[in-house]
Amino acid sequence: MAKKDIDWGNIGFEYRVTDKRYVCNYKDGKWEEGGLTTDPMVVMSECAGVLQYSQSCFEGLKAYTTKNGDIVCFRPDLNAERMYDTAKRLEMPPFPKDKFIEAVHEVVKANADFVPPYGSGATLYIRPYMFASSPVIGVKPADEYQFRIIVMPVGPYYKGGLKPNVVKISDFDRAAPHGTGHIKAGLNYAMSLYAGVKAHEEGFAENFYLDPATRTKIEEAGGANIIFVTKDNKLVVPKSPSILPSITRRSIVYVAEHYLNMQVEEREVFLKEVPDFVECGMCGTAAVISPVGKINDHGKEICFASGMETAGPVITKLYETLTGIQMGSVEAPEGWIHKI
Ligand code: PLP
Ligand code: COI
Repeated sequence: MAKKDIDWGNIGFEYRVTDKRYVCNYKDGKWEEGGLTTDPMVVMSECAGVLQYSQSCFEGLKAYTTKNGDIVCFRPDLNAERMYDTAKRLEMPPFPKDKFIEAVHEVVKANADFVPPYGSGATLYIRPYMFASSPVIGVKPADEYQFRIIVMPVGPYYKGGLKPNVVKISDFDRAAPHGTGHIKAGLNYAMSLYAGVKAHEEGFAENFYLDPATRTKIEEAGGANIIFVTKDNKLVVPKSPSILPSITRRSIVYVAEHYLNMQVEEREVFLKEVPDFVECGMCGTAAVISPVGKINDHGKEICFASGMETAGPVITKLYETLTGIQMGSVEAPEGWIHKI
């Protein structure tokens, strides 16, 4: 199949209409068969649950062209599982995990000519999502839902790419204690828009959020988890019940332990100990691993030893190993790569 005529090296992280999308409806207490369609529009009741009470959730994963020309997805089973858990917490009917993986497979295959070539710097972003489509006016779960998967080629999420970013400690919280921070609910992102726009206006790439109960611990970024490296070469990752269990972060922990022989600490990380770390990065499907050079804590700057020119040596090694696994130049652990 001929690849689309796209300037792969210069695309941003933006919506783009591709040829096919997967749609499956939930009605009368069950998921219908589902399948591909060319129609990019959604028509539903003016009173749909998603429009009134934001009953919606989503996932994000990527497809890559490997060195030898295969198209692969990275750990779609974990996205299927996380979306299942998210749906349950939002009183939505969970989408069957096997069907999720099959749907991802089908929609990527149908848009194969949009999967950026190996080495182009771009990847195919896959966005599964689900929303309440039937009317509700009293506050309650809807009766009908739509599950959909769209795909689009994307470039780097943070403008700097591998250039270190400057972030700020946010004055706002993205999640409440005992709330929905650990699931991928659309409402979490609606809540973060105000803080995100403010941070961008002030020139920061992202917000780092603190734990909502005590505001003394580092939680995560608006669209990514956070990793730190200590002076003695340990990886430290914040652990909290209100952060999203990032698939990229879980993969990095494995890579650090099993490929780079590093010690890993998954624990609470206090803001006051952050100046002791030598490297910092944001990690996620969209973010991949994006280095952080500086954190602004209300005017006080925390500068990492790795500086503002390039990513530090450990983050670089983690980035190379992880993307090597995703793109087929480094051998992957069993079950991580789903071939299309
Ligand atoms: N944290 C937040 C708030 C996110 O939106 C994302 C993106 O999915 C992540 C972390 C990273 O998760 P993953 O690595 O599974 O993409
Ligand atoms: C992802 O990385 O898939 C996300 O959903 C993050 C989002 C901020 C684009």
